[in-house]
Amino acid sequence: MHMHVPTLLVSGASLLLAPVAAAVTWTATPFNPASVPLAVRTPYLSAWLAQGAGTALNDAWPTFWTGTIVGWAGYVKVDGTTYTWLGAPNVAGSSKATQKSLEFTSTQSIFTMTAGPVDLTATFLSPVEPSDLVRQSLPLSYLAVSVKSNDRNSHSVQVYTDISAEWVTGDNSLVANWTTMTGSVLTHQVSLASQSVYGEVSDHTQYGSAYHATLNTTGATWQTGQDTVVRAQFISNGALANTADTSFRAVSDRWPVFGFSHDLGTITSAASSPVVFVVGHIRDPAIQYITANNGRQDRSILFWTEYATVSSAISTFIHDYADALLRAQAFDAKVKADASKISSDYADIVALSVRQAFGSIEITVSKDSSGNFNTSDVMTFMKEISSDGNTNTVDVIFPAWPIFLYTNPALGTQMLEPLFRYQATGQYPNKWAVHDMGAHYPQAIGHNDGQDEAMQVEESGNMLIMTLSLAQKGRDTSLIQKYFSLLDQWTQYLIADSLIPAEQLSTDDFAGQLANQTNLAIKGIVGIKAMSKIAEIAGDSAKAQNYSDIATSYAQQWQNFALSSDKTHLTLNYGNDASWGLAYNLFADKLLGTNVFPQSIFDLQTQWYSTHALDFGVPLDTRHTYTKSDWEIWTAALVTSDSVRDLFISSVHKYAADGESSQPLGDWYETSNGAVEGFRARPVVGGHLALLIV
Ligand SMILES: *[C@@H]1O[C@H](CO)[C@@H](O)[C@H](O)[C@H]1NC(C)=O
Ligand SMILES: *[C@@H]1O[C@H](CO)[C@@H](O)[C@H](O)[C@H]1NC(C)=O
Ligand SMILES: *[C@@H]1O[C@H](CO)[C@@H](O)[C@H](O)[C@H]1NC(C)=O
Ligand SMILES: *[C@@H]1O[C@H](CO)[C@@H](O)[C@H](O)[C@H]1NC(C)=O
Ligand SMILES: *[C@@H]1O[C@H](CO)[C@@H](O)[C@H](O)[C@H]1NC(C)=O
Repeated sequence: MHMHVPTLLVSGASLLLAPVAAAVTWTATPFNPASVPLAVRTPYLSAWLAQGAGTALNDAWPTFWTGTIVGWAGYVKVDGTTYTWLGAPNVAGSSKATQKSLEFTSTQSIFTMTAGPVDLTATFLSPVEPSDLVRQSLPLSYLAVSVKSNDRNSHSVQVYTDISAEWVTGDNSLVANWTTMTGSVLTHQVSLASQSVYGEVSDHTQYGSAYHATLNTTGATWQTGQDTVVRAQFISNGALANTADTSFRAVSDRWPVFGFSHDLGTITSAASSPVVFVVGHIRDPAIQYITANNGRQDRSILFWTEYATVSSAISTFIHDYADALLRAQAFDAKVKADASKISSDYADIVALSVRQAFGSIEITVSKDSSGNFNTSDVMTFMKEISSDGNTNTVDVIFPAWPIFLYTNPALGTQMLEPLFRYQATGQYPNKWAVHDMGAHYPQAIGHNDGQDEAMQVEESGNMLIMTLSLAQKGRDTSLIQKYFSLLDQWTQYLIADSLIPAEQLSTDDFAGQLANQTNLAIKGIVGIKAMSKIAEIAGDSAKAQNYSDIATSYAQQWQNFALSSDKTHLTLNYGNDASWGLAYNLFADKLLGTNVFPQSIFDLQTQWYSTHALDFGVPLDTRHTYTKSDWEIWTAALVTSDSVRDLFISSVHKYAADGESSQPLGDWYETSNGAVEGFRARPVVGGHLALLIV
């Protein structure tokens, strides 16, 4: 990771102490999180409902992960009376529905809103489809609405939703244009009139299009136009006019919105079959990738290999809702059952983390020289998000790694491949592993000047550990076969610099550089041992033996450097007796079964942590009282006592549910009071699944 703006980050903690919202008045299952995922599928399709102490679905506008508004409004008309159930539109003639409940699972956020004599259920489903990567790659998300009577009487009901043009840009002064496709599926398409391929403004993409779609069932109507005009049309008539506003203008100029309405007819106490809306954002090409000789390759999202048009993709997606929901329910149940074997607190943390982690990646494919998709060239890209906009940051993929190993290791292979392939071209000048594939997502154009953020031991160790884990958990040795010499090159660096690590950054770069970091040495030594196993797989037994011997010898010497003189704990840095920290890299030794470090070290640290927790967990190290939720859970996965494991888990749970923050789950937080630090919405929460892979 890499922080651009430390001063801003420092003030982040105080900024968030001003939640606009009232206390939670609804049933929250399992709890009310800092921000509820609504449509979270890619770095650019990322709509949330900020909570703070509690914000109903109709108390505020949904926001992009950065916190800026993405307009998304919903009304329901019941026997002629209109209620707002989504967003904060300000048009005369409607009153607010009352939120009764909120439930989140790994893939869904489900709200129940009482609108007079009916209850409306809004299910926001962002599918996670790890076993079908074409489906996973679709940058589309569902909102399904069903209504039932709550007073035993029948009622006449119409439902409305719209989105604004805020979904296509980070600069609302820019001009948008739009069109509506009719037929069996009604689809609004909204774009910037001036497109900037691979461009971003305030982390929003600046090209491609946003989509809002629904089925043209009986009683479906649509309209585009000024927010107040389209919404007033629904409030007055319970239906839209099937008319287009073609006066293209700035996003904030008389706020154009893209609306649909459905007449549900007469509703009884049985839940109506859901009306389904789809929101999405699609761009092509999606990723620019560096090839040999500083060449450039445009890559497309994988779904294009099966769909010739956006319309066909949206049509298939929307017709698939019932099955997608069944698959999502099965996935949610499996994740919950696995995590509940640890504890229910743990299952809650995992459920909150899944969409956020998957919402950082995009699966892509290249074209061959004749313009056909090359389906044997699939690569997955991740945006670092919030700490930086880097592409495929190795030390962000690494903490997130457990979710990919758990759901589908092939995603891991596809995420490492761009890093390996680039470094195999010889364009990266350093001997250690590169930090990331590019400074600005969605560009993956490398660092031919070698000036990426240097994390020598960190990234070299990460690449070796992740590569071996793919062979072990994914039974995939392809990266080993293709890139053995790069792996060996990085190992030389670890042999030179991991027993006595020079002053350098670890992934926790916000804490600054430090020499002789105990935890970094652990990573380097496990990395060397991982290369020994890799050499074994590649059939080079002499190398395997040599590296194994080196790792064993280093681990012994390391104990003399790393233990405090009274032998009660590992230090943060050698010789600094009073210091200590989370030695979370020991998890890699356990994950890989490399057994480089003796059981006594695991026991010692377990004992130490049991008496060093503050209210919201064990601090990252003695320099500060902040910590990282990903490393808390990694540490929970390596300690040798269930009660210490549960101490870490309950601390993260307490933080996640404390109502202090209103941003998508921040992994960096203060253990003294549970306040979030400057990160949000980052993929590293995938690391919360660490206990599911050992
Ligand atoms: C919706 O479908 C009906 C019946 O097929 C068709 O007559 C109508 O034109 C469609 N509406 C739109 C807006 O495309
Ligand atoms: C909107 O602008 C884009 C980019 O200039 C253009 O390709 C597209 O055709 C326009 N769409 C409409 C509906 O005018
Ligand atoms: C498809 O991609 C693979 C992997 O990069 C490559 O080896 C192969 O040459 C490509 N095929 C074509 C036809 O370009
Ligand atoms: C790092 O630790 C080694 C071994 O204890 C010691 O010789 C060296 O001086 C330390 N380096 C720094 C910068 O503290
Ligand atoms: C073991 O590996 C190290 C580092 O690559 C190398 O310097 C040394 O010569 C190797 N030893 C043997 C016996 O191959």
